[in-house]
Amino acid sequence: MLLINTTNNDKTFITLNILKAPKHLSKSFAYASSIVTFAFQKFIMPKISEKGIQMPSSPVRKLVPFAEAAKARGIHIYQLNIGQPDIKTPEQAINAVKNTDMEVLAYSHSAGNQSYRDILAAYYNKINMNLTSEDIIVSTGGSEALLFAMGSICDYGDEVIIPEPFYANYNGFATASGVIVKPISTRIENNFALPAISEFEKLITDRTKAILICNPGNPTGYLYTQDEMDQLTDLVKKHDLFLLSDEVYREFAYDGRKHLSIMNIAGLEEHAIMIDSVSKRYSMCGARIGCLISKNKEVLATAMKFAQARLSPPTFAQIAAEAALDTPQEYFDEVISEYIERRDILIADLKKIKGVEVANPGGAFYCVAQLPVKDTDIFAQWMLENFELDGETIMVAPAAGFYSTPGKGKNQIRIAYVLEKESLKKAVRILDEALKAYNA
Ligand SMILES: Cc1ncc(COP(=O)(O)O)c(C=O)c1O
Repeated sequence: MLLINTTNNDKTFITLNILKAPKHLSKSFAYASSIVTFAFQKFIMPKISEKGIQMPSSPVRKLVPFAEAAKARGIHIYQLNIGQPDIKTPEQAINAVKNTDMEVLAYSHSAGNQSYRDILAAYYNKINMNLTSEDIIVSTGGSEALLFAMGSICDYGDEVIIPEPFYANYNGFATASGVIVKPISTRIENNFALPAISEFEKLITDRTKAILICNPGNPTGYLYTQDEMDQLTDLVKKHDLFLLSDEVYREFAYDGRKHLSIMNIAGLEEHAIMIDSVSKRYSMCGARIGCLISKNKEVLATAMKFAQARLSPPTFAQIAAEAALDTPQEYFDEVISEYIERRDILIADLKKIKGVEVANPGGAFYCVAQLPVKDTDIFAQWMLENFELDGETIMVAPAAGFYSTPGKGKNQIRIAYVLEKESLKKAVRILDEALKAYNA
């Protein structure tokens, strides 16, 4: 007989009993123990949540173990998979942290430091947003601002319509908030432009709370036009919805085009919630500073309760973010012309590859490319595990994870042009050769 002490019902205990058992009984003990262990795992062990099971893993990071293995084999990898810019953080920001004479690294105000919010409001007012510090809650990255926004406007089971492909973590934020994502597909053939408003209207139900756009888009690089913004404005007003706009790439608008913020739209004050971040603007991803902005007082007051529950945004990083606001315009001019050159090289070279189709991004630093393969999850892994050109390979983000409609984007990848031009050129050459080898 196998004795089980239910107050000590772990595998170690069972194993001890087997070891103590007479030899001729050990086989049946082992059998019984495996059944019991299974039963414990199935029924008695504490269980994780259904929400946890539903939580998607990052399509951008899931290939990391394969990349690490390739690096261990001595392969050099061009990392095009992640939106971590190689651009230097403004020295003002770094120096402000270095020069601080702080003696206690204390919590800040839950809405963020008053001095930072004042200067931030002044910064937005240069582009006519007409904000005060009261309209701003500083968050731990744009990521937390998105969570605050969803938490503030949605109940469990409420719906948010999002043009797909979209920033993959929206799926994660929605799952964590109990929100249902209603994707609306956009197409590579027209650079992922906004779908017809009638398509949105088909998706609107009595659970729809908001439309979430990313402008310019990650992963598409799409920059919305005035006409598209007008159409969205009419739509959210007509159906009394929130318009959430993720503008973390707002500075990166190319070809002389102007980024259009929802905070500049007159009459949208009660509907508009903007998400912003210092991560990409100043190449300060590690600072973890973003913000939620809205003129809607109820939204702000509600988001503030979420902000209070997590106490405060990072103290040191707010010092860096505040100092970063002194970054001279030349920094942005240089960065933007660098990204434009990279984009042009990347898109031109990708277009030369047989069977590759690519959208032309008007902003941000990503593009989506369609490849002549069935499943880019497998292809991307294969490039890390089985392919090299002169000791080098590339890491890309398979695009299926940027869609929420199952099966969509399987033959697409997202490329982040966060490497300098020569590296980008080499990376595209590697992609070309890899496709030839893979399809041979
Ligand atoms: C579109 C978009 N929104 C939000 C974020 C989150 O940014 P962070 O939390 O670093 O501010 C990212 C990060 O890549 C992003 O691409």
